[in-house]
Amino acid sequence: MPAVDRTLADILRVNHAGECGAIRIYTGQRYLARWRSPDLLPFLDQSLRDERGHKDEFAALMKQRGITPCGAIALWGVGGWLPGLATAGLGRSAILICTEAVERTVHAHLQAQLAWLADRDAEVSRAIATIQVEELAHLEGARERRRSRGGRVLDAFIAKATELLIWISTYGASSRMARRIGR
Ligand SMILES: [Fe+2]
Ligand SMILES: [Fe+2]
Repeated sequence: MPAVDRTLADILRVNHAGECGAIRIYTGQRYLARWRSPDLLPFLDQSLRDERGHKDEFAALMKQRGITPCGAIALWGVGGWLPGLATAGLGRSAILICTEAVERTVHAHLQAQLAWLADRDAEVSRAIATIQVEELAHLEGARERRRSRGGRVLDAFIAKATELLIWISTYGASSRMARRIGR
């Protein structure tokens, strides 16, 4: 197998970690939303199904290229529940603020990657472009369902926490990736 480009390996590791996080967050939210905000369940369920599909797709792309996921991915198993559960405990708009912040962070990562990947790996580029459509639907879905604006502090906090967890769970690959793709 030819040597894998390190930036490509980082991109796939970061995305895979992000999907693991998204799965945890939606699972945590779903758990409490059953009582607190049942009207959000169909949206959360659909998003969760999509994130599982994304994770499997990134895992398959990694496997084909001989790239292993980061060992620290297990961290999401503990840390990932917290933002989902905590925001779901705060209520309906906190769930949507959390979703919006996480999806915006993910979308920004994918956007930057697509430019870099364009003439380097057509298969990964196509997969990311398709996944990005669903991530945007999650972002729009959260925005549409919000009945009030505000919550900027929580939004900024969740976005930073998402970046930090991705950074930790990939041993810093997300900032290495950002530097190399010129974000
Ligand atoms: Fe996703
Ligand atoms: Fe998503």
